[in-house]
Amino acid sequence: METTTTTEFRNEVLKTTANTTFRISGGRRLANDANVAYILPSDQDEVKRLKLNHDLWKELMNGLYKSDMHEQLEKGIRVLDVGCGPGWWTLDMAALYPNSQFVGIDMADVFVTKDLPSNVTFKRMNAGTGLDFDDGSFDFVFQRFLVMGLSVDQYSSSVAEIKRVLKPKGAIEILELINDYSNASPAFARITSWIQQAMDSRGLDSFIADKVSSILETAGFQTIKDVNYDVPIGPWGGEPGEMFLAIQKLALPAVKVMVTELTSATPQEYDQTVQQALIEEAHSHQVSTRFRLIYATK
Ligand SMILES: C[S@@+](CC[C@H](N)C(=O)[O-])C[C@H]1O[C@@H](n2cnc3c(N)ncnc32)[C@H](O)[C@@H]1O
Repeated sequence: METTTTTEFRNEVLKTTANTTFRISGGRRLANDANVAYILPSDQDEVKRLKLNHDLWKELMNGLYKSDMHEQLEKGIRVLDVGCGPGWWTLDMAALYPNSQFVGIDMADVFVTKDLPSNVTFKRMNAGTGLDFDDGSFDFVFQRFLVMGLSVDQYSSSVAEIKRVLKPKGAIEILELINDYSNASPAFARITSWIQQAMDSRGLDSFIADKVSSILETAGFQTIKDVNYDVPIGPWGGEPGEMFLAIQKLALPAVKVMVTELTSATPQEYDQTVQQALIEEAHSHQVSTRFRLIYATK
């Protein structure tokens, strides 16, 4: 049963979904809500995949964020994690900075609840329909991997909402994947094309990461920095390559339900292609994925 509340934002009435509903398909739990474009599952298998992903990104970034916020975080500020998933980033940050308060929001109830520290709060909220917080209520807003969750329009309006809830000179930091493979082998090219078709049909943009800088500029953010990452898939890329291959082995099956529902790919064809890509071609073709980290100040 879905319950919704309405909240006043900048003289507009936006609908904030308090309880996204879900359906089960192919053994996975997926959002079933007209206001949620997300094409990945929201279940315990995803919680495990997101932990591996979090560990990989801590290694790649040599830390948890790039914004110049360490001193403020040590003194004590308010931080928001948009689309926090289980909350791995929020929990690590909260342990590192006990004087700061952390709020993680997600449309799905996948939050880690065991041994929750007192400086962490998790809330159900659909970031695609507005942020249910007062103007200027956070010093730092972080958002990671929402490319498959926010439609193009929602992405821009979410950035505007983040600006609204940030205090003057507050920091925004966004890390995004690009749904494309460098050195794509035939199997990877097929997978990319299927995922792009599925994303297109939901109004999602595979290349939103390449546009985040200009979305921030249009929203009026300052001192925008844009860092590119190219992450190898497979043993050819050493330890990060092995880690990212393990993540891909969970991510590509996770996206299977929506790809086979939204494109002409059959489940058998999809499984065979994923097998070919990850077992045979990732290493031999030296395949990689691009990411972008964009950070700025209000
Ligand atoms: C790929 S996961 C990334 C989770 C987390 N940011 C991380 O890096 O571990 C994307 C998350 O965004 C959430 N999400 C998708 N659409 C959303 C929306 N409209 N509002 C809030 N959360 C959303 C999903 O439920 C999921 O937990």
